[in-house]
Amino acid sequence: MTDSTATDIGNTTRTGRAYGKVALISGAAQGMGASHARALAAEGASVVIGDLQDSTAQALADDINKAEGRTAASSTHLDVTNFASWEGAVASTVETFGHLDVLINNAGIYTPGSVIDAELEDWHRTLDIDLTGTFYGMKAAVEELKKNPTASIINISSIAGLVGFKHRAAYSAAKWGVQGLTKTSALDLGEFGIRVNSIHPGSVTTPLTAGLKRGLGQVPAGRAAEVDEISSLVLYLASDESRFVNGSSIAIDGGETAGNNLRVDS
Ligand SMILES: NC(=O)c1ccc[n+]([C@@H]2O[C@H](COP(=O)([O-])OP(=O)(O)OC[C@H]3O[C@@H](n4cnc5c(N)ncnc54)[C@H](O)[C@@H]3O)[C@@H](O)[C@H]2O)c1
Repeated sequence: MTDSTATDIGNTTRTGRAYGKVALISGAAQGMGASHARALAAEGASVVIGDLQDSTAQALADDINKAEGRTAASSTHLDVTNFASWEGAVASTVETFGHLDVLINNAGIYTPGSVIDAELEDWHRTLDIDLTGTFYGMKAAVEELKKNPTASIINISSIAGLVGFKHRAAYSAAKWGVQGLTKTSALDLGEFGIRVNSIHPGSVTTPLTAGLKRGLGQVPAGRAAEVDEISSLVLYLASDESRFVNGSSIAIDGGETAGNNLRVDS
């Protein structure tokens, strides 16, 4: 069910790859989530922006609707650490757009610290938002997703969920947890036609990383990613183009986790 007319938008082309899909995206008021919302809407999807930041989320929905010239987006208050809040976001999505095809568990925070110096409070907050929030999202959405023969869950992990990451004990543990939960859920939900994959971005320029002094020496590309570069992969996993991709952990990191890029022996 794809719009066969391709339209040029800037240097990209709209092909309606997500035509007719309804996506709920957590933490989409800003950063990568906002980019995913814009990209999906531009490719024909309807999107629900779930976030704690109500006015920013609604302003983004208004902006998308204006850009698309249709009701392509709405916002809903969502605290991913609260299961009832997730149930409300799923109900709001179905009430607004009729069904739910794509769940993007994107909300996440980063806290620093090793086992020596990480604050206990930071450990719990990071696990609550980044890992438990993802579990809650899948649990709240699964019955609606089951009604759709080509549903897709996209869990945003990190390269800190693929390799060890210095001074990020809680973040790395949470993001590895997201990878494990993704693979397990791919096995559990495959029989219902629901695909579950995780995306593992390297460094991406967003408000989350704005205050961080990032070392990019390990990245062969020599730079951080822009948000739209991650949205391209989200679009692929949301669309039926990826219908045989399930249980995959996909790195999108400019080669950062390909191997040791720092040691040059002479
Ligand atoms: N930026 C990077 O370099 C990078 C790299 C790898 C992975 N990630 C992951 O990508 C995702 C998005 O990151 P970003 O850089 O766009 O972050 P960001 O800080 O710009 O945006 C995160 C959004 O999540 C929302 N949020 C926070 N707690 C929430 C909660 N309890 N309930 C609902 N919403 C909540 C915030 O309000 C915000 O809008 C996160 O899971 C992050 O861990 C980011």
